[in-house]
Amino acid sequence: MKLLFIGDVVGSMGREMVEEYVPQLKEKYQPDVTIINGENAASGRGITEKIYRQLEAAGANVITMGNHTWDNREIFQFIDQKTNIVRPANYPKGAPGKGIQMIQAGSAEIAVINALGRTFMNPVDDPFPVVKKLVDEAKRHTPFIFVDFHAEATSEKQAMGWFLDGKVSAVVGTHTHVQTADNRILPDGTAYLSDVGMTGPYDAVLGMERDAVLKRFVTSLPVRFEVPKSGRAILSGCFIELDRKTGKATHIERILINEDRPFVSQ
Ligand SMILES: [Fe+2]
Repeated sequence: MKLLFIGDVVGSMGREMVEEYVPQLKEKYQPDVTIINGENAASGRGITEKIYRQLEAAGANVITMGNHTWDNREIFQFIDQKTNIVRPANYPKGAPGKGIQMIQAGSAEIAVINALGRTFMNPVDDPFPVVKKLVDEAKRHTPFIFVDFHAEATSEKQAMGWFLDGKVSAVVGTHTHVQTADNRILPDGTAYLSDVGMTGPYDAVLGMERDAVLKRFVTSLPVRFEVPKSGRAILSGCFIELDRKTGKATHIERILINEDRPFVSQ
């Protein structure tokens, strides 16, 4: 089982990078399933139905979300329709959508789970028991389980990795928008990466127009952040291979495409 994951798509530049490179990455890696984090896809805040369809057309089988899930109100109109959108599982009861999605990938099924961290983030339910319950349920159907843990603190992400080691195929972090270099396979067979990084503006601050961010830091005055619409772009992701019988990870590799690290097709 091969899995391609693309990190936090930010705005139109992120979507353009997905459209340009996901087909090429699929050609190169031949994934059985492609997962994209789309929580910043609509101008940095949430997702619209049109953008969801656009990411799907570019090759995504599943879209995961994060703390910006509800920022674009349009999501309330379509999340409960036939969509492969997975929003954080540990939102309080009553939230629309779902925190887990089973996806047919070749002859097998893979469960995709999304959860939010709580350290330095807005309060939500404890992700550890919520994820454990979903994993226990998914385990009855498939050994292939992917967790996108959308969290700020590396410590909380590492803790989730160890918590799920041997229980899921992969725990990959999102949200910080900076790719970490700690891809590894934990001792009991779970692929782990603290953060996969972002896809969108490269010469920016975490995908936001840098002059505005600089002004906020330098003056402490309130400044509205916007996502740049042109300039150099980056795509961040990872490729994971799982044992076809056990679901345990055998390989995890980081993917980074930008002008400093051009795409290599071989
Ligand atoms: Fe986020």
